[in-house]
Amino acid sequence: MTNSAITASGLRKAYGEQVVLDGVDLEVPAGSVFSLLGPNGAGKTTTVHLLTTLLRLDGGRAAVAGFDVATQTRQVRSAIGVTGQFASVDELLTGRENLQMMVDLQRRARPAAVGELLERFDLQEAADQRVTSYSGGMRRKLDLAMTLVSRPQILFLDEPTTGLDPRSRRTLWQIVRELVGEGMTIFLTTQYLEEADQLADRLAVIDHGRVVAEGTPEQLKRQIPGAHVQLRLAGPEALTSATRVLTDATPDPENLILRVPSDGSVKALRSLLDRLDEYAIEVSEFTVHLPDLDDVFLALTGSAPSAPSAPSAPKASAS
Ligand SMILES: Nc1ncnc2c1ncn2[C@@H]1O[C@H](COP(=O)(O)OP(=O)(O)O)[C@@H](O)[C@H]1O
Ligand SMILES: [Mg+2]
Repeated sequence: MTNSAITASGLRKAYGEQVVLDGVDLEVPAGSVFSLLGPNGAGKTTTVHLLTTLLRLDGGRAAVAGFDVATQTRQVRSAIGVTGQFASVDELLTGRENLQMMVDLQRRARPAAVGELLERFDLQEAADQRVTSYSGGMRRKLDLAMTLVSRPQILFLDEPTTGLDPRSRRTLWQIVRELVGEGMTIFLTTQYLEEADQLADRLAVIDHGRVVAEGTPEQLKRQIPGAHVQLRLAGPEALTSATRVLTDATPDPENLILRVPSDGSVKALRSLLDRLDEYAIEVSEFTVHLPDLDDVFLALTGSAPSAPSAPSAPKASAS
């Protein structure tokens, strides 16, 4: 047994003239969450399809659960679960029937799995309704539940939360954490920096078919301009005083703005405002800026992502 759930070196894939992956190396330790982060069109789904044997490699090699994706397709497939970017549930069936179908299709599955999964994903109430009446979040949960029927060692989640509301997103994050706690390895693609930050032990940023950065979220965040608070001061004197008090801040006198490095947490914000209060410095407005995918790309590649990215995660703001 190897300690790596997934290893890939020099992955290449082209569609005609268009080179989509141009030598991608990946290494995912067993029992961890690995996130492939990149904008729309970066090659995330292509990578998932190559690693899950749904597409053939044009070059390079990859092993999943110790099996070669090119020559041991059957073994790879029996070790993995894949939840695609678009939920693949049968709309005309109920949630329970969808799950039952998966159980019937798989020799290894236990009949009790249907009830257990409905309970685990909080779908009991809607279990006997047709999927057409489900919300986006419920569909994703059902889709994931169906993938788990086969009890995969390695789970591929392709943009599991794109298009979901913040609450469903958090529910899915919680489920991912539980699965990892049970020893599963998770390969997750996302367009959201915050999602990778929340879930991943390690992540790789992909752009133009190449990995442009790889490491822990901490290592990556250290390379990008961090979160900051932007204060608008009531007047030039307030700006001067604030700059004196907050020594690591950068003033913009023309706009009466002070940029203060901060992790954006409630604790940090409270202490910042207390500090300003202490010196009776009047702030007319403040906004919290959290780094997003565009910041990552700007910092790592010096340019915006290669393809238009979807709307970034909402930024916290207050005034
Ligand atoms: N079957 C295909 N035929 C031709 N081009 C494709 C096909 N699938 C994907 N592509 C192209 O490959 C690039 C990467 O796509 P994809 O892997 O889906 O990116 P992502 O999942 O990161 O959004 C895109 O430019 C896309 O248009
Ligand atoms: Mg995709």
